[in-house]
Amino acid sequence: MHKGIFITFEGPEGAGKTTVIAEIYKRLVAEGKKAILTREPGGIRISEKIRNIILDNEHQEMDGRTEALLYAAARRQHLVEKIIPALEEGNIVLCDRFVDSSLAYQGYARGLGMDEVMSINAFAIDNTMPDRTVYFDITPEEGLRRISKNDEREQNRLDNETLQFHHKVHEGYQLLIEKFPDRIVSTDASQPLSEVTENVWKIISSQLISNKNS
Ligand code: TMP
Repeated sequence: MHKGIFITFEGPEGAGKTTVIAEIYKRLVAEGKKAILTREPGGIRISEKIRNIILDNEHQEMDGRTEALLYAAARRQHLVEKIIPALEEGNIVLCDRFVDSSLAYQGYARGLGMDEVMSINAFAIDNTMPDRTVYFDITPEEGLRRISKNDEREQNRLDNETLQFHHKVHEGYQLLIEKFPDRIVSTDASQPLSEVTENVWKIISSQLISNKNS
């Protein structure tokens, strides 16, 4: 058992995850907590390179299973090089996306099968699962509308998928919430970002208390 707390953040594109997590990280640090903020795919040199391969708009010919394997490979390296050492040092690890993204996007929306995608990820993660996962709940329409208004965000290969694909991602996440009710907590991400931040802060604070008492 590690000493730290592993918290992941999930949701469709345009849910405001990245902005909210940055604020949560700032607050934790301001309170003197040991914390790191990282993301998937990426977080370290090798995995950022894999990210560029996966998300490159020119890679239209990429096979679905290749995509799933690359996400799992990036995850493996990220875990052994960054997440596990940080947890062993007692950090609160905030990670923007993790295995649930692979289950919702590759497993469900791409149709590879959630169980199949879990099995390749089981090999990659070797039982390291988040203590808590915060799901940013927003409709695909609203999420995509927000993305289109954000000029600074680069359009990646997965953003270019059809609205139908993004609906499937949303459905995949609903299935995961039903399957893992003790781990995944949902927050309404259609509210203004300041309110979403306060709600997520409450979830994180109560997680810190329950870890302390366990
Ligand atoms: P993001 O950094 O904007 O969240 O972009 C990452 C994209 O990759 C996003 O469209 C979700 C997708 N993704 C998967 O399809 N599977 C995964 O396992 C992960 C981590 C991300």
